[in-house]
Amino acid sequence: MRITIVGLGTVGLANLAVLAADGAHEMVGYDKDAGRLAALMSGSYHFDEPAIKDIFASHKPLLTADEGLALRESEAFFIAVGTPSLADGRSDLTAFEEALAAIARHASKDAFVVIRSTVPVGTAERAISFLRGASERHFSVISMPEFLAEGSSWSDENMPARLVVGGSEEGIAFIRMLYGRQIAAGTPLIGMSNSSAELAKYAANAFLAMKISYINELARFAERKGADIEDVALALGADPRIGPAMLRPGIGFGGSCLPKDLASFLSQARDAREPLLLPQAAQRINKEQPRFFLRKMENSLGGLANRRIAVLGLAYKGGIDDIRDSLSLGFASSLLRRKAEAVCYDPSPLARADFRKALPKAIIADTLNECLAGADAAVILTDDHAFANLSEEKLVSLMKGRWLFDSRNLFPKGSFVRIAYVPLGRAPSGKP
Ligand code: UGA
Repeated sequence: MRITIVGLGTVGLANLAVLAADGAHEMVGYDKDAGRLAALMSGSYHFDEPAIKDIFASHKPLLTADEGLALRESEAFFIAVGTPSLADGRSDLTAFEEALAAIARHASKDAFVVIRSTVPVGTAERAISFLRGASERHFSVISMPEFLAEGSSWSDENMPARLVVGGSEEGIAFIRMLYGRQIAAGTPLIGMSNSSAELAKYAANAFLAMKISYINELARFAERKGADIEDVALALGADPRIGPAMLRPGIGFGGSCLPKDLASFLSQARDAREPLLLPQAAQRINKEQPRFFLRKMENSLGGLANRRIAVLGLAYKGGIDDIRDSLSLGFASSLLRRKAEAVCYDPSPLARADFRKALPKAIIADTLNECLAGADAAVILTDDHAFANLSEEKLVSLMKGRWLFDSRNLFPKGSFVRIAYVPLGRAPSGKP
């Protein structure tokens, strides 16, 4: 079967790689971005995940920016284009609608259209009517949300915890056939209606967001009451009904998914006049959390003006290159607004380069040492391994001041004596 993946971002590339790895189908990758395609074809594309790069090298799917060539002969289309936020939080469906229109224009056979993009509840129903009016072909529209996290997109897509599939019996049977390897290995396929599958995606991301916001809110309470949030998180996570994932406190959730999906979910709730109070609270807490940590720094240092602050962690989480909707951007901007000197560092060169473009007023250090040199204080914003290995000796020898603020609680109690270590939701230690 000829299968085309439309949109080669994180989701599309992982989707393409997983189906290509089976070697059972003729796989085609289509993207309008000629620069990205050229980089993919020449092998110079920057892959976060080597497994995906290896599959591309060994299975060589056809990659093309030629719409007709990509779409004409295929019997299944996976749409994995971006659905970014509009200013009011709603999802921008321009790329999605363009993809549908292109499929309607070019498809030469009856086909399956599988929606991987995160789209508002009800979009598949509208896609079905659109395709019915725009083409003579029969399309079976399937909603199959992705649940992959950046940095583990290959394993999340190759062996997902579940396959959520909305559509007709015919559509669900098609996915059952295509993902036979995953199902045989134990991945459950949960079949449902298109709108339920669409809602399941928003419900999942909102739930993850609520877990993070809950632990962040608890961290503030723990701090006020002299409790230790890491012990509390351990106690919570040990209950199998709660589970330990997404209970690491910090300055909040960033990235291209959770904030955007939460905003879209809340806008859908407003439109439906069915307020979602818990997700709303998660969003509110997430806005407040960086301010809370900044105030903590400001109070400890007696103001931030003219302080040189080493900002550690620019990507939206540790171990990745992506700064999209990274809370570090807002955090560094707030430091600058308070007239501090923000010297920013991330182990990822790509994250550093993008940060430099996004926030030209910040100083970007090319090495960790350069970032720390002469700083009055350092602040850890992501859980990158590079920061968890920082030693007291290094900090003392490089920095001018003796303050380490750690929003990710990367160090066990008692790790520092000669500097003031200020974690989140637990007692500080050492002294400046
Ligand atoms: C998220 C979800 O985890 C995926 O399941 C989902 O498929 C994906 O969005 C998507 O919709 O495509 P991702 O944004 O890559 O994946 O990253 P996460 O690991 O969920 O982290 C999101 C943010 O929350 C990061 O800023 C991270 O630092 C923060 N976080 C995460 C915490 O502050 N505490 C935690 O315990 C976990």
